[in-house]
Parts: sequence; C-alpha cells; structure tokens
Amino acid sequence: MSWEKSHLSRRTFLAGASSIGLGIAVPTVAFPKANKEMEIKKMDVKLVEVPQAIPEKVYTSEKHGISRKTHDEHLKLWQGYANKTNEIRKALAEMGTPDPAKANQIYSQMRALKVDYTFAYEGYINHQVYFNTLGGNGGPATGKIAELINEAYGSFENWLADFKSTGIAGRGWVYLAYDHAEKRVFNYIGDAQNSFPIWNHTVVLAMDVYEHAYFLDFGTARAKYIDAYVNCIDWDAVNALGEKVIVN
Ligand SMILES: [Fe+2]
Repeated sequence: MSWEKSHLSRRTFLAGASSIGLGIAVPTVAFPKANKEMEIKKMDVKLVEVPQAIPEKVYTSEKHGISRKTHDEHLKLWQGYANKTNEIRKALAEMGTPDPAKANQIYSQMRALKVDYTFAYEGYINHQVYFNTLGGNGGPATGKIAELINEAYGSFENWLADFKSTGIAGRGWVYLAYDHAEKRVFNYIGDAQNSFPIWNHTVVLAMDVYEHAYFLDFGTARAKYIDAYVNCIDWDAVNALGEKVIVN
C-alpha cells in the first residue's frame, strides 16, 4: 500500500470521527483497516507423502539375512518421520507470522520446531534413500557411480573397506554422497538423522546402522549386518539417483 493511500485513509477517519463527536481521534483506531490492506502473506503448507509400503524388491534381502519382519517394523519408523515432518510443517504454518520477540535459543516454540524438523525430515529422506537403493544384487558398483568410486577411492574394494569401517564408526548412518563442488564422492558418517549433513552434496546411498535396522536379525553383530547390506545394494537405483543430479 502506498503512503498516499494510507495518509488518505487516516485523514478520512479523522474527518469521520470528528463528525460524530469523538473529539480528539486516536490514530491507532484507524489501523485495522490499514493492516487488513497490508496483510502479510503466510507460508503454504506442503506435505510429504507418507510411505505405505516398503518397495517389494527390498524383501529379497531375506536371502542374506535381513528379514521381512525387520523391514516391516522399519516401515513404521519411516512413516513416523513422514508424519512428524508434516506435523511440524503444519505447526509452523499455524504459528502465523512469527514474532521474533518470542524466539529464544534456550527454549522457544520456534527453536523446538526448527530443531526437531531437521530430525524428522532427514529421517524421512534418509529412509527414502535407504529403501530405494536396497533390493539389488550387491557386488561391485556399476555405471557412473563405479567411475566416481574408483576416482575417489582407487578401487571398489578400497571404497568398500572404507564404507564398512565408516559403518562401524557411525552411530546412525553412513552416506555415500556426491560433492557438487569437487565432483567427487565420499563416505560420510551420520550419527543422528540430522548430523552431519554437508551442503552442496547429494546422497546416493544411505546405510542405516541404527540398531533397529539389524538387531532382530543379527543381535549386536553390526558387522554381519553391514556384510548382508552391501550384498543387497541396488547399484542401478544408486545410479538412477545420481543421474538426476550428477553432471557428466
Ligand atoms: Fe531406520
């Protein structure tokens, strides 16, 4: 709204107030009309799709020891991350226009929503990559991702040793990610869902090493689960994820 229009509105109000005997007019009384005209556009709520099933191909992992029961229980957790992502998005929208005076780094609604949002949304994304890239025949990488692995690690065997070691050293996740700046891949450790993502990277493989991913089948023997997992990697799916974003 222009200044001229605002000024005219106030002047019109003052003239009207005077005519009905209010005496000295209080200018703020005129603001509701001005605020309505200046209404701030609120954020739209875009929701993620809640997964209803694990891709059928994933269940072929049973022949390597990762059971259907584990995947079906795991689906419930993936759904939980999707639901909580949507819940937080709705809560942020319902806050309306945030008041910076109410935000606080020790505790505030904004802090709680924003911190837990990354845990929920990263959990949703990580599991999406995890389940999309499982259900293959394992073995050496293929296609473009094989070239990138060889370029960065020298050989597939060396990459695999690093990937497995990273999986033992991590507390929650291992990511094979493509660095768009250096045009190279690297095996990153992720502890919680939201640590430690790197800017300007695309994750093309995400191995869940939280206990819920293997405890039913392998007890505490995480290394055995990792051996089973790498035998189930779907390298075509990894390449498909990479092809969307990696420029040759
Ligand atoms: Fe998980």
